[in-house]
Amino acid sequence: MCSVEQNEIPDDEVGNIIKSKLTNDLIHGYCLFGKDDTCLPRYYETGAAAVEEFEIRNEDVIVASFPKSGTTWTQEMVWLLKNDLDYDRAKVEIYDRFPKFELPGLGNSRYDSGDLNRVNSIDELNACTGPRLIKTHLPFSLLPRQIRNGYKTPKIIFVMRNSKDTFISYYHMAQILWLWNVSKEELAKVYLADKVLYGPYWKNVLGYWNMRHLPNLLILRYEEMIKDLKSIIQRTCAFLELDPLTEEQLERLFTHLSFNSMKNNSAVNYEKVIKERKQYNPTGDGAFIRSGKVGGYKEEMSSELINKFDEWIKKNIENTDFNENYACFGHVE
Ligand code: A3P
Repeated sequence: MCSVEQNEIPDDEVGNIIKSKLTNDLIHGYCLFGKDDTCLPRYYETGAAAVEEFEIRNEDVIVASFPKSGTTWTQEMVWLLKNDLDYDRAKVEIYDRFPKFELPGLGNSRYDSGDLNRVNSIDELNACTGPRLIKTHLPFSLLPRQIRNGYKTPKIIFVMRNSKDTFISYYHMAQILWLWNVSKEELAKVYLADKVLYGPYWKNVLGYWNMRHLPNLLILRYEEMIKDLKSIIQRTCAFLELDPLTEEQLERLFTHLSFNSMKNNSAVNYEKVIKERKQYNPTGDGAFIRSGKVGGYKEEMSSELINKFDEWIKKNIENTDFNENYACFGHVE
């Protein structure tokens, strides 16, 4: 039974795009969950209570994000730091090393082609002994209650990325992984109406941003990772209370996490899943680790669409201390 408030998607223009273009054999329908009206597959209702009541451990580490913000990149860094830089064990697929909260098997790429055997990721996490590394795209407001009320303090690393690059990355990935057959303009309507899967983007980002005073929360920016990855590795290492890396260790991890290395690393580039999904959408083409740029949206968005995003950004960060320069352009000081 779902203990989390649940609302239906309105039956309007955006609702129709969702029904006709974002609904398929993989995701049969969507609902809005919790106080932020987070858009999730309807089947989340069968697992929402288990996430809410989940017994977290203080020694767990969570990597959280809005999709396409550099989650996998951050996961790979965190996994290696927490596992003594064991590059051999890092050859296992990232989704097998770093399970996701969302139930049942939502986006758990091993299992969710069609409706096949969705795994119960909460059972899987409960069965893990010792500290766990957990991925989630849930907003802070849908994290387990023990985290929200401060009863447990696992380390949380939230990675964010400017919303326009995130949108473009999301658009490309949705075609190959979620098999959505939707135009950029149609998807933008859904995104800007805050009804896109895992959205609203701003509730997700600001939900963590507003908690940044918590000592157990580290906020990273994709753009900073691009600019100075070594500093980010060192900052993350300190946050995780691990011994500082030697020069040699830092250099190797930096090289391992470079764009080209990640793009060619089958443990993190989702190539198996993309290949498997291709049978359902033979025209869908592309790579998960795609272009890795800051400001790439300028090549892929019309000026009209950029203006719409800018208005939406301004409206959403009004009365917050979120930096407009970063929010609009991804510029980091
Ligand atoms: P693009 O589609 O813009 O290239 P997530 O893991 O949250 O889904 O994010 C995926 C995005 O992170 C993709 O963005 C991907 O290319 C980018 N990414 C992954 N590894 C990267 C790296 N080493 N350097 C730069 N970008 C990386």
